[in-house]
Amino acid sequence: MSPPVTGVIQDLERVLLTPAQISVRISEMAARLNAELAGKVVTVVALMDGALFFVADLLRQLEMPVRMHTLSASSYQGGTATTGEVKVNWPAGVDLRDQDVLLLDDILDTGLTLSVISERIRVQQPASLRTCVLLSKRRERLREVPLKDAGFEIDDEFVVGYGMDYQGRFRNLPCIGILNPGQPS
Ligand code: IMP
Ligand code: MG
Repeated sequence: MSPPVTGVIQDLERVLLTPAQISVRISEMAARLNAELAGKVVTVVALMDGALFFVADLLRQLEMPVRMHTLSASSYQGGTATTGEVKVNWPAGVDLRDQDVLLLDDILDTGLTLSVISERIRVQQPASLRTCVLLSKRRERLREVPLKDAGFEIDDEFVVGYGMDYQGRFRNLPCIGILNPGQPS
């Protein structure tokens, strides 16, 4: 059963996606991955911290053998607009050569983060690379990202919850929502 939507919910202007909607969609995404990646050993590259809950919920429904690496990348310096620069914290000892890589992130916005990381993966010559995000914003991309799976297409608004933050807060919301205007910075 999904957790109730309570707590910091009063900071939201509105709920965009409920825990139940998120859960149903992730199960559909997992079913598709189970069908299309059956027989492979999948190496997940998960972008922290935003994709934490998405990855946890999705991976527990994958039926093939899975390895996982976590990376952290930031293009945001705490505000709601991208700075254009992507810093990637790439752990030592990750070798993706000949691996079937599944790159997972919370949200595709300008495309900068995933394009930088995809490029770093591609130079390692994986057997395949599939990119999957929970949310994709309907907006012009600064960089094109070949996206195989997106859970939900959303309008170009700043969202929080289910792993996604505003200045480090709201990650623990079980739903995804739009913040009230006038949050303290
Ligand atoms: P991009 O590089 O512009 O595509 O941004 C991707 C990253 O920015 C995501 O992985 C998120 O961490 C963050 N981000 C983009 N939009 C939002 C949002 O609406 N809420 C919270 N984080 C966001
Ligand atoms: Mg992120």
